[in-house]
Amino acid sequence: MSLAWPSRRREPAAGRRTAGAQRAGRRPRGPVIDVRDVRKSYDLGGIVVRALRGVSLQIEQGEYVAIMGPSGSGKSTLMHILGCLDTPTAGSYRINGLDVAGLDEDDLSDLRNRYIGFVFQSFNLIPRTSALANVALPLQYAGLPKAERAQRAKTALAMVGLSDRAGHIPSELSGGQQQRVALARALVTNPALILADEPTGNLDSSSTHEVLDVFAHLNHQGRTIVLITHEEEVAAHARRVIRVRDGHVVSDSLAPATAEATSR
Ligand SMILES: Nc1ncnc2c1ncn2[C@@H]1O[C@H](COP(=O)(O)OP(=O)(O)OP(=O)(O)O)[C@@H](O)[C@H]1O
Ligand SMILES: [Mg+2]
Repeated sequence: MSLAWPSRRREPAAGRRTAGAQRAGRRPRGPVIDVRDVRKSYDLGGIVVRALRGVSLQIEQGEYVAIMGPSGSGKSTLMHILGCLDTPTAGSYRINGLDVAGLDEDDLSDLRNRYIGFVFQSFNLIPRTSALANVALPLQYAGLPKAERAQRAKTALAMVGLSDRAGHIPSELSGGQQQRVALARALVTNPALILADEPTGNLDSSSTHEVLDVFAHLNHQGRTIVLITHEEEVAAHARRVIRVRDGHVVSDSLAPATAEATSR
């Protein structure tokens, strides 16, 4: 894809504010994702829920990883930490070698905006707002001029095969189309890392295939993809499957086709 990272409306005088995102955007020398002994507890007024109990994992650039596990096992909690939407209670998380613990809120939001694209099960599209405007929204936060936002949103919609639906509002789109709009919105900032929490959870099998085709294409372009799924069939599209149970990683294996290819 030819989209460049959005330029910023206001460049800070000192490097400090965006240093995190800029460093994270460089070509990584180590893993893109490096999680070490991450724990996350929620304190519900006396009752402590230990959602993650010491998770370690590394993901290299260009990998396509599925995270599986029973309901309540900590998958979304882990994904929120990977996406810098939440911070661990203990342990470390490095993204492209950069320790997120050292970043302030501005650095974190900059990092998210420039480097990470999110897709959620429930699409999270804005109702009564066109597909094009939904997709363009992240660029507004990045401070791009309106014409450029529209152009990039069109390109992103074309990538997910929805050029002819740009003017439709979410209620005029099928579930698969809505999820593809959400994918286009995640892509419009040209993120190197795409995180998806049950992106096909609400879709029928033909819509699931439409969405998985887009993920395959994005991975083919070299983007790193991490997706949570309950469906073995969906996980089979990834090249590596990490299984989580009770806040622990219980298995981490290459998909059969990949294992076969690498052992040849
Ligand atoms: N904000 C929160 N406050 C308190 N407890 C939470 C919070 N978020 C998650 N939990 C708890 O942490 C545990 C892990 O939740 P998480 O959402 O990560 O599970 P999950 O594996 O994504 O499950 P599902 O497959 O149902 O989406 C659960 O026991 C959940 O109740
Ligand atoms: Mg979840």
